[in-house]
Amino acid sequence: MTSPTQPADPVRRVAVTGSSGKLGRTVVAHLAERGYDVLALDRTRPASPGTPFVAVDLTDYGQVLEALSGGVDEHTTPVDAVVHLAAVPAPGLVTNAATFANNSAATYNVFAAARALRIRSIVWASSETVLGLPFDTPPPYVPVDEEYDPRPESTYSLNKALEEEMARHFCRWDPELTMVGLRFSNVMDIEDYAAFPSFDADASLRKWNLWGYIDARDGAQAVRLGLERTVPGVEVFVIANADTVMSRSSADLVAEVFPGVEVRKELGEHETLLGIDKARRVLGYEPQHSWRDHAG
Ligand SMILES: NC(=O)c1ccc[n+]([C@@H]2O[C@H](COP(=O)([O-])OP(=O)(O)OC[C@H]3O[C@@H](n4cnc5c(N)ncnc54)[C@H](O)[C@@H]3O)[C@@H](O)[C@H]2O)c1
Repeated sequence: MTSPTQPADPVRRVAVTGSSGKLGRTVVAHLAERGYDVLALDRTRPASPGTPFVAVDLTDYGQVLEALSGGVDEHTTPVDAVVHLAAVPAPGLVTNAATFANNSAATYNVFAAARALRIRSIVWASSETVLGLPFDTPPPYVPVDEEYDPRPESTYSLNKALEEEMARHFCRWDPELTMVGLRFSNVMDIEDYAAFPSFDADASLRKWNLWGYIDARDGAQAVRLGLERTVPGVEVFVIANADTVMSRSSADLVAEVFPGVEVRKELGEHETLLGIDKARRVLGYEPQHSWRDHAG
């Protein structure tokens, strides 16, 4: 048995669900680059093949169990970690009940199959939405962080909050299990940055997520750091970039849009209001990218 102070064997063979999606594509590439042996799982085939891929409908437990256990012909090595990103990725894309049915079943099946197979490392995508987006009710303070209870305001977010709760119980059932929930901000690829200067005109345009974002490459960094974590138990982390999407200062934005909300630290000029101090401290996360490097 591995104690919290004793590093486990490094994870090498990792399944990534949602591998064909926006974040999944970058995560797969990043992990492969870093020497991980990646098995890509999605119900949609990847646009550019390369990484070993199996089409799986994660709402079917049998398919999940088969894929993770190395039961699929041509993909016979069991995995020792799972990165679970597959989901309907936002509210309102399909009906609420369809969002809930897909996302809750997929996540339960991944967590439960991992448990059955004694996979002891799970990193999964939670969401910034559990912090109270779209903040029609103002945040309790800024920068927001992991210190207050989830405040889901949509079915999509409710499901993410329930997944965090589910993870707590899976870790209670298996004291050797490490689960890392990443509350990603709005995922951006480089080509998305062209639109950022247009956000400046109206502070209310991006108030819904406190003007935050996450560069997919920094999201992938956070996933890898989650896989490197060996302390058993569940932890959740807000994962955003170090700055906002705006040219105006963060202090100005708060004063205009959320007057009266407590500002808990002295804010840097463009400092994120989605607090990443816990991710920095516990995971060693440090964003490497900013939309400002791609502007103009
Ligand atoms: N995009 C964002 O801004 C954002 C923000 C916070 C959190 N997240 C979370 O990050 C994760 C990845 O988001 P994304 O932007 O890459 O989404 P995406 O839609 O681009 O990718 C999700 C992938 O999951 C797959 N999928 C969904 N249900 C499935 C199922 N039942 N079986 C197999 N595959 C299934 C889809 O085919 C798709 O390829 C999601 O969990 C999402 O909720 C996204």
